[in-house]
Amino acid sequence: MPSTSTSRAVAARPAPPLSGEAPVPGDKSISHRALLLGTLAVGETRISGLLEAEDVLNTASAMRAYGATVERQGPGLWSVHGVGVGGLTAPAAPLDFGNSGTGSRLVMGMAATTPVTSVFTGDSSLRRRPMKRVLDPLTRFGARYEAQPGGLMPLSLTGAGPALAIDYEVTVASAQVKSALLFAALNATGRSRIGQRALTRDHTEKMLAAFGADISVEPRSGGGEVISLMGEAELSPCAVDVPRDPSSAAFPLVAGLLVPGSVVSAPGVLLNTRRTGLFEALRAMGAEITVSNLRQSGGEDIGDIAVRFSALKGIEVPPEGAPAMIDEYPVLAVAAAFAEGRTVMRGLEELRVKESDRLSAIVAGLRANGVTVEELEDGLIVEGRGADGVPGGGMVETHMDHRIAMSFLVMGMAARAPVAVDDVAMIATSFPEFEGLMRGLGAELLSQ
Ligand code: S3P
Repeated sequence: MPSTSTSRAVAARPAPPLSGEAPVPGDKSISHRALLLGTLAVGETRISGLLEAEDVLNTASAMRAYGATVERQGPGLWSVHGVGVGGLTAPAAPLDFGNSGTGSRLVMGMAATTPVTSVFTGDSSLRRRPMKRVLDPLTRFGARYEAQPGGLMPLSLTGAGPALAIDYEVTVASAQVKSALLFAALNATGRSRIGQRALTRDHTEKMLAAFGADISVEPRSGGGEVISLMGEAELSPCAVDVPRDPSSAAFPLVAGLLVPGSVVSAPGVLLNTRRTGLFEALRAMGAEITVSNLRQSGGEDIGDIAVRFSALKGIEVPPEGAPAMIDEYPVLAVAAAFAEGRTVMRGLEELRVKESDRLSAIVAGLRANGVTVEELEDGLIVEGRGADGVPGGGMVETHMDHRIAMSFLVMGMAARAPVAVDDVAMIATSFPEFEGLMRGLGAELLSQ
């Protein structure tokens, strides 16, 4: 389902105190994986809390194209009748993943060890994003591809059959690459071993275990870990209850920390420690954040998060924590702009290849709103405005990036003058409820 939304500029005005509960939608990473694993299991996988946003709906369409029956049975309630590992049929038409790096890369992995040819394409942002990081390691299984110069989409991938297990060290700090290789390994003969130094999100590993795969994860003495996964797997369907997305909860929660007098909470949020780096960084900056009602859901830790307005101070954000908050740097940079003193963020080279070059998009957005920032090759140094307040008044270019749009709208809620973003259409890729939910908390968002 390619995006049909037309572009629309919106401004956020300085808001009165925000208050209330923010039930953000389901986790995007887990939603994609639930659809893929449902397709690779034989029988019916029932999913509740699925994120019904463009990125995930595009993945659902791709799963249908490979032969799965994917049906919506109610809000967030989906059923997938899978075809089994090795049972994918060749898609009749190109697969359009819209804006989604995760959807497209995970599906490349899934299709790399079954002898079918698939064509992958996406919107103009996705067609600029690097795919060789996934495609090249997939050739180790025997897959072949033809791509645009530089390994860009549109591209066609022909899966290997039969495929042999591999030993491979993932050198980029990317859960997408690691996960693509694990999906490919499912249909290879023998046991694959995938190593990675960075401790990136581990939802694929957890869900594979829940679907009955023979998988183990060993920490390595030299750092990182090795995942070993037996191929020619038979996966059994599983009920998946998708927790709410911490990467979406970040926006109302940071707004609550920045707008004076606010008290905001988000119930049932995924608290996997490989995803919660933002909350740790904010705590180190002096944020009042409480977590209650800790529980387990679908093999993941979840809990209710509450924040109240807090005066923040700048910090050095430890670079080794980057994978646990990789999608949260835009909103962290906005929080840093309001803090007293300097915030240094490093180890962020991956931000240059997200939905936009996020480092340069953040820098341009901060400067347009009167915040001094230094751009490093792999990071940012933000000079917090503290008691002087953030002037605001700027128009921010979002470069088809949902998280840039939401982050700067949060800035406008707490700045001295409104902050506008040139386009909110892309917010529908991950958090279609954003505007309504923020208005419900008291935010003032005006179409331009
Ligand atoms: C994701 C991994 C991250 C993250 C993306 C979701 C995933 O990307 O930025 O939003 O679900 O595996 P990388 O693997 O490229 O770091």
